[in-house]
Amino acid sequence: MKNRVYNFNAGPAALPLAVLEEVRDDLISYKGEGLSVMEMSHRSKTFDSIIKEAEELAKEVYAIPSGYRMIFMQGGATLQFAALPLNLLGENQSADYINTGSWAKKAIQEAEKLGKNIDVIASSEDQNFNYIPASFSINSDAAYLHITSNNTIFGTQWASYPETGSVPLMCDMSSDIGCRPFDMSNFGIIYAGAQKNMGPSGVTFVIIREDLMEKSPADIPTMTSYKIIGGKESLYNTPPTFGIYILKLVLKWVKDGGGLSKLGETNQTKANLIYNILDAGDFYKGTVEKDSRSIMNVTFRLPSEDLEKTFIAKATEEGMIGLKGHRSVGGIRASIYNAVSLEAVKVLTDFMNEFEKTNG
Ligand SMILES: Cc1ncc(COP(=O)(O)O)c(C=O)c1O
Repeated sequence: MKNRVYNFNAGPAALPLAVLEEVRDDLISYKGEGLSVMEMSHRSKTFDSIIKEAEELAKEVYAIPSGYRMIFMQGGATLQFAALPLNLLGENQSADYINTGSWAKKAIQEAEKLGKNIDVIASSEDQNFNYIPASFSINSDAAYLHITSNNTIFGTQWASYPETGSVPLMCDMSSDIGCRPFDMSNFGIIYAGAQKNMGPSGVTFVIIREDLMEKSPADIPTMTSYKIIGGKESLYNTPPTFGIYILKLVLKWVKDGGGLSKLGETNQTKANLIYNILDAGDFYKGTVEKDSRSIMNVTFRLPSEDLEKTFIAKATEEGMIGLKGHRSVGGIRASIYNAVSLEAVKVLTDFMNEFEKTNG
């Protein structure tokens, strides 16, 4: 299709073209009903079937075992930084956190702001977050352990998740949910802002073990309460209806495309294409340790900041956008989420090779 850029934005990020086309076709009159999904009641039969289907698809695509519930919340992953300790960290308890970057840090700060007891049991801040800590010991009496599965800004990702025994593992999966198969039974809660791998911004997707959902204290704000929002099947108040609808279409797209194992293979292939260039010479330098590399956000530097500026400008001219590293770290970041095609990544790697030839 003409007039579409190659979108390497970190979030909100690329959506599958097929999904956008379906949304366009149904925008004015959803399935001939004479109104759009944006305009219908969240209590209507039609929306009820949309939200139920979204849940069913999530269950199927992410292989969620029984004993877990899905909740659509609002406030982004950022509200979850507060919701998690509000719901599950009592006054006489402490929770373990691992600090692997800016978002993990914000989760820690938010909990501390609420006066909660936090133990940061490992951190990679000593090396500007260029690795995932390998050794740490979890407090056996911790209310939970919180990790960030993929560090969007620094380009690191947990290759496998820590064994936590009886301590529930809580995970901010905002930037890599469903990038490959994962085993939900290892987790107590996962949460993700939808705007990278699942849909548009405005929806926060939470999967929670049922026993944990029951623990929410009665005196926390309603909109943060897993028990209330989950208990009302995400319909306590007006949910982000249009976002949930698109999220449903994205899940269907994942399913129709072969599910998470197929996506995982493609994502690995996409990432390898870029990492192979970083490893092949000295012009491009990856910023993170090899065993901690993300398959979602590939971060690297060029020999100078001037060359980085030229790289970004030339890439933009050739229809590739969103390659500028996060403002706090600089450099280049290619966000290659699920909806970024192998073709888009090949266009980028061809460009990288060409750019090195002319400027290396
Ligand atoms: C890993 C991670 N966690 C949390 C956030 C914050 O998410 P939100 O903007 O949905 O609050 C982001 C945003 O980029 C992120 O990448």
